[in-house]
Amino acid sequence: MEIDEAQRVVMRDGTEVAIRSIRAEDAAMLQAFFRRLSARSRRFRFFSATVDVSPQDLNRLVRVDPCRGVALVALAPRSAQPTIIAEARCVVDRESSAEFAIAVADEFQRKGLGTMLLETLLARAARTGIRRLVGEILAENYPMLNFVRRLGFRIRTNALDATTLIASTPMAP
Ligand SMILES: CC(C)(COP(=O)(O)OP(=O)(O)OC[C@H]1O[C@@H](n2cnc3c(N)ncnc32)[C@H](O)[C@@H]1OP(=O)(O)O)[C@@H](O)C(=O)NCCC(=O)NCCS
Repeated sequence: MEIDEAQRVVMRDGTEVAIRSIRAEDAAMLQAFFRRLSARSRRFRFFSATVDVSPQDLNRLVRVDPCRGVALVALAPRSAQPTIIAEARCVVDRESSAEFAIAVADEFQRKGLGTMLLETLLARAARTGIRRLVGEILAENYPMLNFVRRLGFRIRTNALDATTLIASTPMAP
């Protein structure tokens, strides 16, 4: 499969969703997705409840150098206009190691979408030579800690910040 080809997945409630790489023209849709997140989900994703991502950050989020990372979006089915309902990304921080983040729209959470999106991210990251995903998670973010634990990630304390934990993929050296 080509890296940009949309992949169809089916959520637990039977709804079909398309997962594809993010594109430069997704900026407005991505901003709208972040705005629609609940304050809690936004805080878990960004460690702050800021509603708007700056134009510079938005530009960076939709233009991912394929040699430096992978960014995926999931699109709502049968909506009048394309709508992002989930986003996941990883960006290389050290050789073969990338930092990841994910968010699923509140109304689509707990339907298996996050799992399918992160599994797709892991597969595509592996194809680009990334060998390890690492993520910083707020210690109070139990949904995310459960979520990554279920996917086999290792969780350890963060020596630099007691309010967060570090999750990493099992293939970590
Ligand atoms: C964490 C998150 C990505 C999970 O996405 P999701 O689509 O809801 O996840 P899934 O439906 O695939 O859930 C898989 C498993 O994760 C765990 N899980 C997910 N949400 C949970 C919750 N609210 N409470 C407890 N466990 C939860 C469960 O074990 C679940 O399996 P189950 O539903 O069979 O019990 C989503 O809750 C989210 O976007 N949160 C806000 C943003 C965020 O925290 N991002 C992380 C910052 S890096």
